[in-house]
Amino acid sequence: MTAVDNSSRAVLITGGASGLGEATALYFSSQGHSVVVLDRDEQKCAVIGKRLADRGAVVCGSVLEDNDIEEAIEAAQGFGELRWVVACAGGGEAGGRLVGKGGAPHDMAIFQRTIDLNVTGSFNTLRLTASAMSTNLADPDGERGAAVLVTSGAGFEGQIGQIAYGSAKSALIGMTLIAARDLSSIGVRVNAIAPGVMDTTAWEQAPAEMKAALEATVPFPKRLGAPEEFAKLAEHLLSNRYMNGHVARLDGALRFAPK
Ligand SMILES: NC(=O)c1ccc[n+]([C@@H]2O[C@H](COP(=O)([O-])OP(=O)(O)OC[C@H]3O[C@@H](n4cnc5c(N)ncnc54)[C@H](O)[C@@H]3O)[C@@H](O)[C@H]2O)c1
Repeated sequence: MTAVDNSSRAVLITGGASGLGEATALYFSSQGHSVVVLDRDEQKCAVIGKRLADRGAVVCGSVLEDNDIEEAIEAAQGFGELRWVVACAGGGEAGGRLVGKGGAPHDMAIFQRTIDLNVTGSFNTLRLTASAMSTNLADPDGERGAAVLVTSGAGFEGQIGQIAYGSAKSALIGMTLIAARDLSSIGVRVNAIAPGVMDTTAWEQAPAEMKAALEATVPFPKRLGAPEEFAKLAEHLLSNRYMNGHVARLDGALRFAPK
């Protein structure tokens, strides 16, 4: 059996200039894969670009813009073929309760922005990358590619004040199986990861007591998840050819309370 040359099968990581996406980009690069990052943050793109050096490429743009995703696909195809995608671009903003103090309704623009970034952005990434993968040579199993969507524990048990983010992440949980079924005809698998609370740089600014209190709520192990644990799970879901349509929780058995 000939060894697979990882470098000719590129991995596209959206939101790959920060947090879980950055850790995933660096991990895949360390495993010999060619990595393409698509992220809208120019400064962070410059930093990850230097770290990936000639083993990768960075496209500074948005998952909401078809042209930017197409540019990232072309960059991936420049290494050989686009084989794997990890759609990390996402996040939430504080929107408060559905009806806040004094009876004010939830801000509509926050809700729409959150759905746009997480749901529309991931859908746009998946539709354009899967279309590109449909022209890849099929492996003996008939596989042409694989994708990982990124949802959240909040998509299962969203907390009070998270209605926009929780609704968006629930939509991605629902999207996973349908996408896997839709793309079965072209040999592209789709799975998702639902992280609990991960130890990304966002926590560097937070008070130590706040982090410790959160760690205490995780059944086991009593700590936040490591970004590399996320990257390794992504690698498993992408490489295990019988994993399809699955949403994997990565949370130390944490289940969020109402607030
Ligand atoms: N960190 C956690 O604990 C955690 C928990 C559950 C789920 N998640 C999910 O994991 C994913 C990554 O989270 P993170 O904590 O690493 O976030 P992060 O904010 O560190 O990174 C997100 C990246 O996405 C980029 N981005 C934002 N909008 C974009 C757009 N339109 N186009 C391209 N790039 C865009 C940002 O510039 C940023 O670099 C998100 O989907 C988040 O909802 C994170």
